[in-house]
Amino acid sequence: MSQRISVGIITVSDRASTGEYEDHGGPAVREACLGSGWEVLAEAIVPDEIEAIQRTIRAFSAQGCGLVLTTGGTGIAPRDVTPEAIRGILRVEIPGFGEAMRMRSLEITPNAILSRSLAAIVDRSLVIALPGKPSGAVECLGFVKGAIPHSVKLAQGVPTSC
Ligand code: MTE
Repeated sequence: MSQRISVGIITVSDRASTGEYEDHGGPAVREACLGSGWEVLAEAIVPDEIEAIQRTIRAFSAQGCGLVLTTGGTGIAPRDVTPEAIRGILRVEIPGFGEAMRMRSLEITPNAILSRSLAAIVDRSLVIALPGKPSGAVECLGFVKGAIPHSVKLAQGVPTSC
């Protein structure tokens, strides 16, 4: 039986959270998820604030999202705190996701080196921090997609054969 992946999507952006700027990242990630046959269970736009990011990730995990995707706030601007927020609540970080996203993205743009993208297990969810540019977020998701089903199973405590 194929695995149903329930996803929560969080756009991290001060300007999108106040409505000053239309969110394009969240909808782009949602389309990519639906295209993979995943179910989008929850969506939110939050400001670049550590507590708001952490609270929303945990709420989505408690709601049953085996996969939580954030988009934005991975760079080096003063308000970019998504990696710090995730690191404050993770059980274990999975460095390979960030390594793969940066390595593959560098073939597209040298600016990919600026993204501090990462993945981690938080509560019972796999959390992946994607860059904020909609095309970059979708590209990065594509680069690590193959490892997502197995990682989500492990995050949720589903017995696996490897
Ligand atoms: N990765 C891919 N694949 N494509 C991109 O266009 N943009 C980069 C990078 N990663 C990009 C990318 C840029 S310009 C920045 S500043 C960083 O992601 C961080 O983005 P963020 O702060 O919006 O998360």
